Amino acid sequence: MDERLKALKRTAEYLASKYKVPEFYSHFYHQHAKVRHIYFSDPLIQLVRERVEPELKQVEDLGHGLYHSRKVSWDCGTLLSIELLAVSRRSSLQKRLVILGIIAGLFHDICRHQDNHAEVGARKTAEILKDFPISSDEVTMICRAIRNHEAFVKPVPCTDPYGQLLSDCLYDADKFRWGIDTFTHTLWYMINNQKLTLFDLLKRFPWGIAGIQRISWTFRTPTGKQFGPEIIEQGVALGREIYQHLRNLVANDDQYYNYSH
Ligand SMILES: [Fe+2]
Ligand SMILES: [Fe+2]
Repeated sequence: MDERLKALKRTAEYLASKYKVPEFYSHFYHQHAKVRHIYFSDPLIQLVRERVEPELKQVEDLGHGLYHSRKVSWDCGTLLSIELLAVSRRSSLQKRLVILGIIAGLFHDICRHQDNHAEVGARKTAEILKDFPISSDEVTMICRAIRNHEAFVKPVPCTDPYGQLLSDCLYDADKFRWGIDTFTHTLWYMINNQKLTLFDLLKRFPWGIAGIQRISWTFRTPTGKQFGPEIIEQGVALGREIYQHLRNLVANDDQYYNYSH
């Protein structure tokens, strides 16, 4: 990544450090820790990670590699474990669904470079998962969830209620990344990849922030609807700080104004 973009990313990380941990992560600290434990210790997840990590390296340049997908997988598993408490007390079923949620999170953006990446990614994931000890019904659930993860696109309903839950949890977990993570991580990779000038970025910033705000209304699970808007509000607030910082840079420095890759 270009040095000037790295500096902006560091500024965003510094500004973000002043924000409090969103309530989703403090309130559900234990559930989140349990999911991370499963992520690092379950044998099936270990096999899947070995297979998916080289795929994720290929989308790292878009900010949608392992850093992004692992966070989505942890939040998806956490949302599932919370939502499942209201539906079933069977711990074996709960654990299996959390594992499927983690896998869906890891795979959901493997085709991020391609048009229609959710649908293309779902098809590729189905092909890869054929070689794993995962039933065809489970693969269908994972792939439907991946297909349904894009924002502002009408999701395809799932026939199975657990499949529907998995789909909704993956969506919400992915949209949690539209908070602080947009500015501490994803944005700078996207700009670097698209070779945008900072002037271009400034012009698009208000439109980008409006898009983030619209996500608040799209959460699909009760937990996402309750805790997601705070995560998004933090993203919007941080975005406004970065916008001001960028305006100051551009106003005070011709080099930044004309800066391009
Ligand atoms: Fe995606
Ligand atoms: Fe994603």
